[in-house]
Amino acid sequence: MIRKVIVPARVNIIGEHTDYANGLALPFAVNLNLELLIKPRKSDFSGHETIVALWKAAGGYPADLTITSEIPIGKGMSSSAALCVAIVAGVEPYQDKMIICHKAQKLEHEVLGTPCGLLDQMAIVYAKEGHATKINFENLSVEHIPLPKSWLFKLVDSGFDRRLSEVDYHTNNAYLQSHVDQENKRVIEAINSDAANLGRLLNDSHKSLRKLGVSLPQIDALVEELQATKGVLGARMMGGGFGGMIIALVANEDILPNYSRVISSNSFTFEELG
Ligand code: GLA
Repeated sequence: MIRKVIVPARVNIIGEHTDYANGLALPFAVNLNLELLIKPRKSDFSGHETIVALWKAAGGYPADLTITSEIPIGKGMSSSAALCVAIVAGVEPYQDKMIICHKAQKLEHEVLGTPCGLLDQMAIVYAKEGHATKINFENLSVEHIPLPKSWLFKLVDSGFDRRLSEVDYHTNNAYLQSHVDQENKRVIEAINSDAANLGRLLNDSHKSLRKLGVSLPQIDALVEELQATKGVLGARMMGGGFGGMIIALVANEDILPNYSRVISSNSFTFEELG
């Protein structure tokens, strides 16, 4: 049976650098997909070296493996988490969601060498269209929060690519606990915020991430430029830092006309192609 697994990317509204410190986050999945096509064979494997290594580490059966992806790599949109979720779900789609997340995280740690938390995997696996997912990393509980129509997001490429495995990801900054405490409060406040207040929270979040030491001067400059743009209600760096996308909250679709708005998506799906 040929199997296809389709996995979305994610954005994170707020709650950055909190997942590995038992904090809160508010991501949602977006309609940019990675597809893994699996054609079983009698023995052996074919496909890109990394994909085959991941597949074998996940206990996959002999197969031809093909990946196609719309998710930009190194842009803080969880391309590697999407890949690992696709591999784990491709081996066995009918698994408990949290088990899929843990297995995908383990692959990232052990095969890709990325010391990631669980934000990306949980954002993808628990996603519900039209909703953000409030994640509490202390007890790994999730709650779906309807996305208000007035929360219009655009993604602006910082122009810096970053590979998580190459950066000193786990900052030991003495400021981390304070960042997480403040960021948790912002996540809770965000949930009942109108767009104007959410924008202010995004700006505050960026300030804190900057202090945490996970931004770059060039990113700060771009974030400040965006924050000062008429109709932009707030902006901040998104994801692990040191590059990738900046998330901007805009008052309407015409603001930042060169960028299209972010559309929310459901979780991963799979098809058996006979
Ligand atoms: C990366 C990691 C996540 C999370 C974010 C920062 O995306 O993979 O686990 O730590 O950075 O919020």
